[in-house]
Amino acid sequence: MKNIVEVQGLKKRYKDFQAVRGIDLEVGEGEIFGFLGPNGAGKSTTINMLSTIIKPSEGTANINGFDIVNEKNKVRASIGLIFQESTLDEKLTANENLMLHCKFYGVPKEKREERVKEVLEIVDLENKRSNIVDTFSGGMKRRLEIARGLLHYPRVLFLDEPTVGLDPQTRNHIWEYILRLKQKAGITIFLTTHYMDEAEICDRVAVMDHGELIALDTPDQLKTNVGGDIIEIETEDNRAAAALLENKYEAEVKEAEGSLTFQVEKGSEFLVQFVREFDIPIKTVNLRRPTLNDVFLSLTGREIREETVSAKDKMKSRFRRGGA
Ligand SMILES: Nc1ncnc2c1ncn2[C@@H]1O[C@H](COP(=O)(O)OP(=O)(O)O)[C@@H](O)[C@H]1O
Ligand SMILES: [Mg+2]
Repeated sequence: MKNIVEVQGLKKRYKDFQAVRGIDLEVGEGEIFGFLGPNGAGKSTTINMLSTIIKPSEGTANINGFDIVNEKNKVRASIGLIFQESTLDEKLTANENLMLHCKFYGVPKEKREERVKEVLEIVDLENKRSNIVDTFSGGMKRRLEIARGLLHYPRVLFLDEPTVGLDPQTRNHIWEYILRLKQKAGITIFLTTHYMDEAEICDRVAVMDHGELIALDTPDQLKTNVGGDIIEIETEDNRAAAALLENKYEAEVKEAEGSLTFQVEKGSEFLVQFVREFDIPIKTVNLRRPTLNDVFLSLTGREIREETVSAKDKMKSRFRRGGA
């Protein structure tokens, strides 16, 4: 697989504050690559450097073979960009927004009509083409932005928190479009998110915290690295069961709400033997894989708090956009 994004030692400093502390990574063509991290981790700063919006303090990167500092225009022509905050002109129609973009990106006049139609079809907005964007729902605006990002046939699409502030159903919808893009156009997708389920969809995920990448792998491998599966049991005597688990199985047991949880390497294999031989009667057993939340927790000792962050983001975007 050819690399379409290559990053070496990328840093960004704002006065005394180091927002991005030296990032190295490579993204293969056609990959869906995600940056997962809490608010303030440095995700937007990184994406803004890669998309030539801001200049790195140190380090280099190339996109589609072009240098992000010395070949800005070629980089820009290679990428589609969807910012964290909406940048649509809401007083214009969907069509006018897209036509303007075609003009900015030098899409030849005779091709514009066809391209606009094509991208609107991808996001199911053909029949809204002449409507004023102001009348669109949040999800429709997001879809229109994705469509706009595709107009000049970019090789890489950068999406900064593409579904922040949208309800779960709309978020799923947006994801269908993104996955469709990957299949249809073979486009490489580079996104940031603080939603675990969104990171799950990525082929590979870089976990970012305090301006650094603290892990980079497939979601599966990241979870495997946490150390196996999580088993949750309820027994007739939890105290005795916890003691037995700790002594005999050397498990690290956590007790919460009437159940015991512990980690084992191969959950299903372990359970077969365990259920047969465990001396204390078991009432319920539950086996689950670690989540990406468990991954972040094990790497940092903290959780990515989705609820608080998204509530804050919602307020922020409402404030900035003046309603809706
Ligand atoms: N223009 C700026 N000037 C000073 N500090 C900034 C600027 N932009 C971002 N930061 C800081 O850099 C850190 C990373 O920000 P950002 O990249 O937006 O994080 P994320 O997108 O992961 O939430 C934050 O602490 C933020 O306050
Ligand atoms: Mg951000």
